[in-house]
Amino acid sequence: MAVPAPDRAFLFEKGRVSMDVNERIKALEEKLIEALKKVEDHNDLQQTKAEFLGKKAEISQIMKHMKDLPEEERPAFGKAINEGKQRFSELIERKREEIRRRELDQKLKQERIDVTLDAPDYTPGSVHIIHRIVEEIEDLFIGMGYRIEEGPEIETDEYNFERLNIPKDHPARDMQDTLYIDGERLLRTHTSPVQVRTMLRYGGGEPVKIICPGAVYRRDDDDATHSHQFYQIEGLVVDEHTTMSDLKGTLLRVAREMFGSDREIRLRPSYFPFTEPSVEVDVTCANCDGDGCGVCKQSGYIEILGAGMVNNAVLRMSGYDPERYQGFAFGLGIERIAMLRYGIEDIRHFYVNDLRFNRQFT
Ligand code: DAH
Repeated sequence: MAVPAPDRAFLFEKGRVSMDVNERIKALEEKLIEALKKVEDHNDLQQTKAEFLGKKAEISQIMKHMKDLPEEERPAFGKAINEGKQRFSELIERKREEIRRRELDQKLKQERIDVTLDAPDYTPGSVHIIHRIVEEIEDLFIGMGYRIEEGPEIETDEYNFERLNIPKDHPARDMQDTLYIDGERLLRTHTSPVQVRTMLRYGGGEPVKIICPGAVYRRDDDDATHSHQFYQIEGLVVDEHTTMSDLKGTLLRVAREMFGSDREIRLRPSYFPFTEPSVEVDVTCANCDGDGCGVCKQSGYIEILGAGMVNNAVLRMSGYDPERYQGFAFGLGIERIAMLRYGIEDIRHFYVNDLRFNRQFT
């Protein structure tokens, strides 16, 4: 029988066998192979698939004529069509895989890193001098059995002042120009509130031995010796037999750690509301060894920190019974220590982050 032209409706006369269905499919398959050669992307492929396997595809049209065939020819006919469809699908899927792989290759090529390019000159960073000193002092105190505590930089008036024995209208408040957030909250002016927080947490029944490093804030105009933000380290020891000589021995170790093993210290009477007695601590001038020079203004000594025995009122407000416990406390400014140690004449150097300055300490 004649093979109907491929692009004409494929009509069977009733009762006649399409012995050429295989040929028709073969021709379609070749057409598909040709079409696939022109396919560039998934979009094209989708269209080609619809064209060759969709409802309106020729192979689907041929299928409709199965009912016109005599019963005994139908299985062979159906099989031929199904196998044809199967091969078409395989060809299309193979193409899909090829496109996918080509796209991936392209993407990988685009994202390729050229390892032969010269890398930019990355200089490794290092710890800022302020933090190096903090770490040094922390190590010293950890070696003496202290724990490190921290407290919030946004404090309340209660902890920053009241519980440190600095009631409202107390003249000592003038010593620390305060940045208030609202009536009750402020930026802590010193690390001393951590003393109170820690004692309250310990609950009045056990010894305390802590240091607390951290940033503090003052309402100051920045100049060579003032900064609105700087760093302090607070120290607090509370125990049953704590004396002024424990304080002095401890601070001597700090002074020698910071300024050299042959430094001496002296305690001068001073006043802080939270300590009684209070002292200011001077260290012998490292520049002239205590003989007197320009650096120490001929005095032989340089003031490095404030300290004292914890005021009974503070102990009481923090839940410690002064009949049983005594304590000492001290507070030192890190920038001041760094300036003395390295002869830095302007506190602002610590904060502008000029690499020429910072690199001197790496
Ligand atoms: N809080 C004081 C200040 O910022 C420093 C200070 C002095 C802390 C004496 C103390 C201390 O713990 O005992 O000026």
